[in-house]
Amino acid sequence: MTLTDQLNRPLHDLRISVTDRCNFRCTYCMPATIFGEGYRFLPKSEVLSFEEITRLVRILVPLGVRKVRLTGGEPLVRKDIERLVGQIAAVPGVEDIALTTNGYFLPQKAQALKDAGLRRITISLDSLDNAVFRALNGDRADVSDVLAGIEAAERAGFAPIKINAVIKRGVNEGSVVDLARFCRERGYIARFIEYMDVGNVNGWRMDDVVSADEIVALIDAELPLEPVPPNYFGEVAQRYRYRDGGGEVGVIASVTRPFCGACTRLRLSPEGRIYTCLFATHGVDLRGPLRAGAPDDEIAAIVRQGWQRRADRYSELRAAQTAPREPKVEMYYIGG
Ligand code: GTP
Ligand code: 5AD
Ligand code: SF4
Ligand code: SF4
Repeated sequence: MTLTDQLNRPLHDLRISVTDRCNFRCTYCMPATIFGEGYRFLPKSEVLSFEEITRLVRILVPLGVRKVRLTGGEPLVRKDIERLVGQIAAVPGVEDIALTTNGYFLPQKAQALKDAGLRRITISLDSLDNAVFRALNGDRADVSDVLAGIEAAERAGFAPIKINAVIKRGVNEGSVVDLARFCRERGYIARFIEYMDVGNVNGWRMDDVVSADEIVALIDAELPLEPVPPNYFGEVAQRYRYRDGGGEVGVIASVTRPFCGACTRLRLSPEGRIYTCLFATHGVDLRGPLRAGAPDDEIAAIVRQGWQRRADRYSELRAAQTAPREPKVEMYYIGG
């Protein structure tokens, strides 16, 4: 029997945030003013071990999980992350394992990740203009650092590589066409993400959002595009291809064209809470039972109940939102 939620959505993807730490301070995710020297990240003892995470994956496969994505924070700041990749890749039933990274540590890590069984990589890069990029990442890295990471991923055999860019008005919409052209030339898939109101600290305003329509128009004016049907049910990105046959781009329009109706994603936080929405205010703790010695079926029952109760569709309701909400979970904690 397929496990479904209140809106008849099956559980299919698991996005695992392996750490709340990151070496960047992107303004839309971990603004440096808040995440300064004194910020207290989770102590190691509170973060799930690789063995604990793998056990959860094993428990979740019978509930429907086929696709796993590792995120963070920055997943590559977690020591020996390739070991976790190897463990998850070996779980029977896991058909796809991917990673979202800022790319900085890929020159050291790409080959080990490939060897461990990682299938796909998505690298974030918001601009090719160094000043714009540094302003966005809190002055932590140059474009050349990320390019070196992308090249390392390519050398290790990852293909096609996806490049994610969050577009913020007045900041980097001028980088859209450059990024599209760069990815097209190199055979990467560029994906432009509407800036979202995740968490509580990025000061999001609707005025800062550059809509997918605008993004597509910017590219189309220089490199003509046509829409392409999704690869699979519930694909987050809407795809377009270059009319001259030179590859494809995607837009992730979570704000202007919400895709909650097909949302099959469960999220696991670094300390073992599960969240049924990126914009959730509460998660359900699995670490407690895990560490108290609960058997697999008890943990499975907690997840099953949580999923069956699930009615989340935050992005679809965003516009109608009036009452003040409790604080939402943060992106660096729950993963992109
Ligand atoms: P593929 O498996 O390659 O299709 O990956 P994906 O489309 O899940 O892509 P990725 O993990 O790179 O997600 C891209 C971005 O889409 C994330 O960084 C988020 O900004 C946004 N996103 C992903 N999942 C959700 C979701 O469930 N809800 C919302 N609102 N945004 C999401
Ligand atoms: N809006 C949209 N995307 C975001 N990401 C992080 N914060 C936001 C936000 N507020 C994306 C990053 C990266 C992934 C980890 O999540 O750009 O691609
Ligand atoms: Fe780090 Fe990614 Fe958040 Fe930027 S978006 S601060 S790279 S976790
Ligand atoms: Fe899924 Fe929540 Fe995103 Fe909607 S807003 S697509 S329910 S994670």
